[in-house]
Amino acid sequence: MFKFSFGEKSYLGVDIGTASIKIVELENSAKGPTLKNYGILESRGHLERLNYAIQTSGLKILEEETVQLLQILLKELKPKGVEVAASLPAFSAFTTLLEMPLMSPEEISKTMPYQIKAFVPLPLEEVTIDWLPIGEVEDEKGIKKQQIFLVAVPNEQIRKYQTIFANVGLKLRALEIETISLARVLTGGDPTTSLIIDIGARSTAIAVAAAGNLKYNSQTDFSSNALTQAISKGLGITIPRAEELKKTRGLTGTGGEYEVSTLMMPYLDAILNEARRVKEVYEKDYQAKVDRIILSGGGANLLGLEKYVTAELGLTAIKASPFAKVGLPGEITSLTAELGPTLAVALGLGLKQIKK
Ligand SMILES: Nc1ncnc2c1ncn2[C@@H]1O[C@H](COP(=O)(O)OP(=O)(O)OP(=O)(O)O)[C@@H](O)[C@H]1O
Ligand SMILES: [Mg+2]
Repeated sequence: MFKFSFGEKSYLGVDIGTASIKIVELENSAKGPTLKNYGILESRGHLERLNYAIQTSGLKILEEETVQLLQILLKELKPKGVEVAASLPAFSAFTTLLEMPLMSPEEISKTMPYQIKAFVPLPLEEVTIDWLPIGEVEDEKGIKKQQIFLVAVPNEQIRKYQTIFANVGLKLRALEIETISLARVLTGGDPTTSLIIDIGARSTAIAVAAAGNLKYNSQTDFSSNALTQAISKGLGITIPRAEELKKTRGLTGTGGEYEVSTLMMPYLDAILNEARRVKEVYEKDYQAKVDRIILSGGGANLLGLEKYVTAELGLTAIKASPFAKVGLPGEITSLTAELGPTLAVALGLGLKQIKK
């Protein structure tokens, strides 16, 4: 474990994924936000039952298991602070881009209930709304309109998270969809418009962000576990063995190993097709270009992925490096290339509380 300076206030970022929970503890030191500690715990039976998930797209989250996993993590971590920001999976919120006549924030707030009815399939009193002004565009007639990015989260989801954190003695200060956390940590302070592809175990979040703000949000169920499954079926080997091959060979194999990447390709291409669609929709709706691709999530560690994505989408793809914004204890600098994409969401959540 790491050396700590005692007595400082710390902030926790908790990313509850489908297959694992990640916690980071950040401290606001003289040098800026710094990582004090982190923990990652995979759910029981994650590899044995690839279809099993802590989070599911049916808005369910397995509360009991989540509490148990958090308790194990917290026992190890012994964090100094109790304040937490947590993330919701990209699939658990309704998001949309609205175009409205130019008006004041107060006026926008007043119209929101009507806007929401149009696209959220839940009664108004069952969702919590957040919105963000994005910018202005001109329509075909030259009339200026403002673009508003709207996020609606079912209250049921929020209540579940409140219960979970109360059960482990933590104070839930903020809850946001994971792509908002990613936008903050991967594009904050940088105006380059980025297509973020977060390849998780069970789902892939796809977003467009610039200057720390989320501008488009989408997701697909094609994900890194699908790659493991394809290898397992194709080669007739166990899931743990296929998982190992995926991680050691990635897309870079030759000769006999080449088969591993061939087997993964259709599923990888399914992810990239959705990414391509998001890029096209974004560019049309926002009348702006995407400049680069950032690969995040554990699945971004697939060997050779940056090169493959760059070629397929015709746009430079880089691996997420959230540690550009969070200082590190010397002991773990060698691990950051792999850890960065995995911890990106949790780090973005930690930063949310420090950067207020
Ligand atoms: N070196 C690697 N090469 C290829 N895949 C990897 C590598 N390391 C981790 N993965 C894959 O990344 C996935 C886990 O990613 P991550 O931790 O982002 O998922 P998660 O957040 O739990 O899930 P989700 O985002 O779907 O809820 C697993 O499928 C794992 O096999
Ligand atoms: Mg994830």
